Amino acid sequence: MKLKSIHPFPARMAPEIALEECRTLPLDARILDPMAGSGTVLRVAAESGRTSVGCDLDPLAVLISSASTSGVPPEDIVPAATNLAGRARTLEEEELHPTWMQDPETRAFVEYWFAAEQRKALTRLGVCLASENGDLGDVLRVCLSRLIVTKERGASLARDVSHSRPHKVRQENDFDVMPEFLRSASVVAKHLAAAPVISRAEVTRCDARRLSHLSDASFEAVITSPPYLNAIDYMRGHKMALVWLGYSVPQLREIRSSSVGSERGAEPRHDSAVIMGEVRGLAWFARLPVRQASLVRRYVADMCELMREIARVVVTNGKAVMVVGNSCLRGVYIENSRILEMAAEAAGLRFINVYVRDLPSSLRYLPTPSGLISDDLGKRMRKECVLTFAKA
Ligand SMILES: C[S@@+](CC[C@H](N)C(=O)[O-])C[C@H]1O[C@@H](n2cnc3c(N)ncnc32)[C@H](O)[C@@H]1O
Repeated sequence: MKLKSIHPFPARMAPEIALEECRTLPLDARILDPMAGSGTVLRVAAESGRTSVGCDLDPLAVLISSASTSGVPPEDIVPAATNLAGRARTLEEEELHPTWMQDPETRAFVEYWFAAEQRKALTRLGVCLASENGDLGDVLRVCLSRLIVTKERGASLARDVSHSRPHKVRQENDFDVMPEFLRSASVVAKHLAAAPVISRAEVTRCDARRLSHLSDASFEAVITSPPYLNAIDYMRGHKMALVWLGYSVPQLREIRSSSVGSERGAEPRHDSAVIMGEVRGLAWFARLPVRQASLVRRYVADMCELMREIARVVVTNGKAVMVVGNSCLRGVYIENSRILEMAAEAAGLRFINVYVRDLPSSLRYLPTPSGLISDDLGKRMRKECVLTFAKA
């Protein structure tokens, strides 16, 4: 199924999974994706007229999800972008010092990753975007981010930004930001016009482990794909766009530190997770070196907190569908899906079924496993599990 995203995103959920799961729900069902990413689930729900709510910690994920589900009239996008670019070109020199870019770390970051011409143009657009409120403003921010979060050539000096593995590949750049911004606006308008939304999704930037703004038993279904352990550092690529959209590097570092699945090891509090004893008994856990075992311990605690919140907000007999692949740490195959299963059961969710599907190569953003792992392990890493639970 072709559901084009308006912005690249690493490890998007395959749209057919979201579509299949939504199809089984009544039209008045309320759906939550607490780790919405680019908003695949929300978009499918919004296109079918179902009520949906999304959360994510990553400001860019929130922007993309909001922009693609807010129902902004596509025909308004290019005129608004043209108007914004016109204003940006005429800003006076003294207006070109955005407050969030004044700290030495953020300045050094943009000087390293962007050449002078693109920095000037992006600053102009960033300053104008800072005063753009509302849904159209979010769409325009996405149009700008698309110039930077690219695989190949874009406004930065890096490549592979869209895979969240940016590396600097040139010292000079002739990328012409203003006309490309208008081109990006027309691509986004085209994508949004191709799949109009019937109901809008409500998207907030928040931690999926702490959903206190959502009431108990308020969703018929949760459909989500949590990060794999240690697989993708979303903020690494996304911060290259977010520094033009109101965020400083220190702010983004703070956000990254609370992301699930990152490189951070466990703290003593993580060891009190209810399933930790059971996890320690798994054969693969015993083979992990100390540092990698510590990453797993943190992930286990995070998944327990996530599942507790999911179990709380789902109605009795409601369902929770989780899509996750497995990881490999130092040659040891980590069953993320098993961790999810144990965490769900500990939270009071009943396991219904699991099916394993091939990860489409277009959606595989993980580094190709090589060297340390066998062919068999490589094959298993190209699969993902779709787990369904029900609230008893
Ligand atoms: C696999 S991606 C989701 C992809 C999404 N299903 C899509 O189709 O684009 C996992 C998401 O979890 C988010 N995330 C990580 N830690 C989080 C947390 N503590 N709370 C909320 N979201 C979090 C990441 O920012 C990322 O967007």
